[in-house]
Amino acid sequence: MSTLPDAILEVKSLRTVIKDKHRELTIVDGIDFTIGTNEVVALVGESGCGKSMTSLSIMQLLPKSGAIDHGEVRLKGRNLVGLKKREMARVRGRQIAMIFQEPMTSLNPVLTIGTQMTEGIRKQLKLTKEEAVTTADQWLKRVGFPEPARIRKEYPHRLSGGMRQRVMLAMAMACKPDLLIADEPTTALDVTIQAQVLDMIRNLIQESEMSVLFITHDLGVVAEMANRVVVMYAGQIVETADVKAIFMEPLHPYTRGLLQSTPKMQGKLEKLVPIPGTVPAVGQYPAGCRFADRCPVAIAACKEALPELRERSPGHHVRCIRDLGGIS
Ligand SMILES: Nc1ncnc2c1ncn2[C@@H]1O[C@H](COP(=O)(O)OP(=O)(O)OP(=O)(O)O)[C@@H](O)[C@H]1O
Ligand SMILES: [Mg+2]
Repeated sequence: MSTLPDAILEVKSLRTVIKDKHRELTIVDGIDFTIGTNEVVALVGESGCGKSMTSLSIMQLLPKSGAIDHGEVRLKGRNLVGLKKREMARVRGRQIAMIFQEPMTSLNPVLTIGTQMTEGIRKQLKLTKEEAVTTADQWLKRVGFPEPARIRKEYPHRLSGGMRQRVMLAMAMACKPDLLIADEPTTALDVTIQAQVLDMIRNLIQESEMSVLFITHDLGVVAEMANRVVVMYAGQIVETADVKAIFMEPLHPYTRGLLQSTPKMQGKLEKLVPIPGTVPAVGQYPAGCRFADRCPVAIAACKEALPELRERSPGHHVRCIRDLGGIS
């Protein structure tokens, strides 16, 4: 896969394993992608495909039983795999920030929002306490808190889910990271609040020089936010292309299935049809194409060998042996 000269993040042949009592499971199975300067890349796929494990691998926040087994994660050319804990802690926050589905997991319940924000900002940006407070207030205002001093005095549990996620966003943005990773940042919020927080994220991304990895189930969100899309299935990338190509000319039957099962997002495809069956469990993948059992156009050869990810047109990679150009 070609790399951009201005790549911020290059993930190369990344493989992540989890050890349980009996065996080692490959959760992320050799993935490659690049995020350029100012680029928003969406990572999509059904539950259990390995999206969060990919982002936790990049951040090196894997659970104790997990490890990167192979590959590289290069941030502005520097390989993060193998960095000492202390060096990696410096990268997190300062160079890569992350917002999660449930903001409470990354907020400390016993400290006020102000303490958490200013401590983080001071540490990352080497500012005085007063400067950190001013910076915190600027960002709290930008995420829609007109009276930031009041929010700074609050404890996390006193805020609603949407407010907490906006605080997390302000904390992430205040440190001016090169890369923001957002893992389903609105999934846990009420539908009306989701749209509000998404708008806010989109505006901040457009106004900043940041690159973004945006993880979501929701292809409607992808259409609004992303420049490029990486579709994952069973731990591997099955298709990657720019956002227009994904919606107008999806080539992998799985991508087509995702589009057909998303309301109002079928593109050229008309009917709303769920994908039959479920993602195979990790460690129980078939020898051939991992999607073959659910695929409407699978042939015998699909079950024989795992297809390679091939470049079908510039920037459009597909892991499928069927030539689906004309079929819909
Ligand atoms: N700590 C763990 N131990 C064992 N298996 C795990 C662990 N964490 C995740 N997995 C497995 O790894 C696979 C990928 O999980 P991951 O959380 O990356 O999926 P995801 O694509 O983010 O799904 P979702 O959309 O539900 O967030 C799943 O099959 C999951 O069961
Ligand atoms: Mg996840």
